[in-house]
Amino acid sequence: MVGVLVTGASGLLGSKLVAELVSRGYEVVAIHNRNPVMLEHEKLVKIKLDITNRTLLEDLILRARPDVIIHCAAYTDVDGCERDRELAWRVNVEATRSIVRAARVVRSYLIYVSTDYVFDGEKGMYREDDVPNPVNYYGLTKLIGEELVRASDLLYTIVRPSAIYGVGGSKKSFAEYVAEKLSRGERVRALVDQFVSPTHNTLLAKTIVEIVEMRPMGTIHVAGERMSRYEFAIRIAKALGLPTELIEGARMEEMKHWIAKRPRDSSLDTSRARALFRTRFFDTDLALDLFKREWVERKSG
Ligand SMILES: NC(=O)c1ccc[n+]([C@@H]2O[C@H](COP(=O)([O-])OP(=O)(O)OC[C@H]3O[C@@H](n4cnc5c(N)ncnc54)[C@H](OP(=O)(O)O)[C@@H]3O)[C@@H](O)[C@H]2O)c1
Repeated sequence: MVGVLVTGASGLLGSKLVAELVSRGYEVVAIHNRNPVMLEHEKLVKIKLDITNRTLLEDLILRARPDVIIHCAAYTDVDGCERDRELAWRVNVEATRSIVRAARVVRSYLIYVSTDYVFDGEKGMYREDDVPNPVNYYGLTKLIGEELVRASDLLYTIVRPSAIYGVGGSKKSFAEYVAEKLSRGERVRALVDQFVSPTHNTLLAKTIVEIVEMRPMGTIHVAGERMSRYEFAIRIAKALGLPTELIEGARMEEMKHWIAKRPRDSSLDTSRARALFRTRFFDTDLALDLFKREWVERKSG
């Protein structure tokens, strides 16, 4: 069976990806750092490794010789990237450079998980060939990561999701935050003027497994339907049977605590992916149904 090495295996996406891969019979080497990978499986080897340690990371890839590398790890805190640019550079750029270098030696196929934040958000519904123009340091480092992959002679796919949500990993996604606050009867503020394409982690993971199997070349947008953060909060509340009246609209200009600038509309056009894959990654009803099940499961322990 094909061996897959996954970075960021303890994250919101990576945790689902590892589960999906082992359930389909793949041998998986899962790299995590500060947080654990909860899953136990005979086909899963977990390795705690800081990917900014170039020697350890490259040695691991050279020893494991994976057929496929899925690079999900990133410093994803958008304000954190602005505060600590050096760390953002080392995690998002330098570690990607190491992965590309080692992948070339062992001839792995590389899937690089990028972001909608490579775009400036002035237009929305971006296609794969639209010109990126990041408005913050996180987006810039992820774009440079893309360019390192593109400039290599590897077989690669760059996957761009948007506003990933779901249950899994160590941090709480926006959807979980909304669900928890509303279920406690607390008010939630959500932006009426920031538009994204909320992408469910399990559906994205299933689509990435299809990518492993199909190996489509180049860049591909895999994301949900375009909506404002406010509309998304309303959809979550409705799906979970929670009170929508507790959701208040807010505007981006009120977010004085933000350090990084955010794109106004970073929604993605997913026509290419829709034509290629079986997974209905764009189906909000399906995604929220899954989210409801997983959230209730996590709450009940
Ligand atoms: N979340 C979103 O809304 C969103 C939207 C678009 C694209 N993306 C992209 O999708 C990918 C997955 O995002 P996510 O939300 O699943 O991320 P996440 O939950 O924040 O997880 C980040 C992962 O990266 C790992 N990581 C960070 N620094 C590391 C280091 N120095 N060494 C080793 N591992 C390190 C973390 O490991 P530990 O936790 O174990 O330290 C964790 O497994 C990222 O590439 C991100 O840029 C995310």
